[in-house]
Amino acid sequence: MPHRYRRLRASATIRNFVRETNLTPYDLLQPFFVINGKNKKEAIVSMPGIFRFSVDLLLKEIDEYIRLGGRGGVFFGVSSQKDNSGKFAYAASNPVVAAIKAVKKNFPDFLIVTDVCLCAYMSHGHCGIVEGNKISNDKTLPLLAKMALAHAEAGADIVAPSDMMDFRVAAIRQALNKEDFQDVGILSYAVKYSSAYYGPFRDAAHSAPGFGDRKTYQMDPANSREALKEATQDIVEGADMVMVKPVLAYLDIVSMLRADLNVPIVGYNVSGEYSMVKAAAQNGWVDEKAIVLETLTSIKRAGADIIISYHAKDALQWIK
Ligand code: PBG
Ligand code: ZN
Repeated sequence: MPHRYRRLRASATIRNFVRETNLTPYDLLQPFFVINGKNKKEAIVSMPGIFRFSVDLLLKEIDEYIRLGGRGGVFFGVSSQKDNSGKFAYAASNPVVAAIKAVKKNFPDFLIVTDVCLCAYMSHGHCGIVEGNKISNDKTLPLLAKMALAHAEAGADIVAPSDMMDFRVAAIRQALNKEDFQDVGILSYAVKYSSAYYGPFRDAAHSAPGFGDRKTYQMDPANSREALKEATQDIVEGADMVMVKPVLAYLDIVSMLRADLNVPIVGYNVSGEYSMVKAAAQNGWVDEKAIVLETLTSIKRAGADIIISYHAKDALQWIK
């Protein structure tokens, strides 16, 4: 017999009882941009509501975020110290290293995930060592391992390599184990597409490539088969979780990985996705709260266990 589907939609109460996907604070990770210095909170023009914080003010921000229900975040370094060797990515002066120590000391239960990549520390803005006009995969690996180790030593819970060099998960896992950091996890940006949606982030992190593009290391948006292969290989290399990034134009990839893999899947709701919503909301063209909650719910429905989103702080207040 054909069914009356509207019965289970008739009231808010029944809809709540039958809802399949619910957002909780443990679904969300907020990105935080960290800079050197004191008493600094810099607005990022292309990302309304998002700031770069010096460590002292980051502590205040995280305190507020935790009060709203926040349980973890992803730390990104923004550095004015750049060269062609990448050494500032793991130097003692690194802002992320200082941030990890301070946040762990003050908020021991806060889950700290750190982005591991060289682009914000390279004069040329690429994610690896440049030789001629090429990005050297294998010469980049030891630097990524050093950076991950610096984060682990400072107290990071999970390191998240976003560079897209091959074999970096194995290199990082090996380096961590060697120094007795077996318990530090790896969230691999396994499926990271070469995407125009990263535009505002590159403003935020001063990490745009100075020449060329990232197409020789990030994935072609037209492809899905290599997504499954790379994610599978990263798990073999030692990744505890794998990420799909950006997430919204790639929800098919999330659901494909969910069906094939048995590790948590993380969706990164990236900067361009955030800025488009903010711009439309500021113009009064969309209902920001409704659109953000619909979007985050969709990412979870597609199969993501965790969502990295610049909307996380707002969303926490809306799902209370
Ligand atoms: C650095 C990095 C990028 C993002 C996260 N880590 C930018 C890039 O690869 O150019 C993008 C995040 C976002 O757009 O929100 N490798
Ligand atoms: Zn990078």
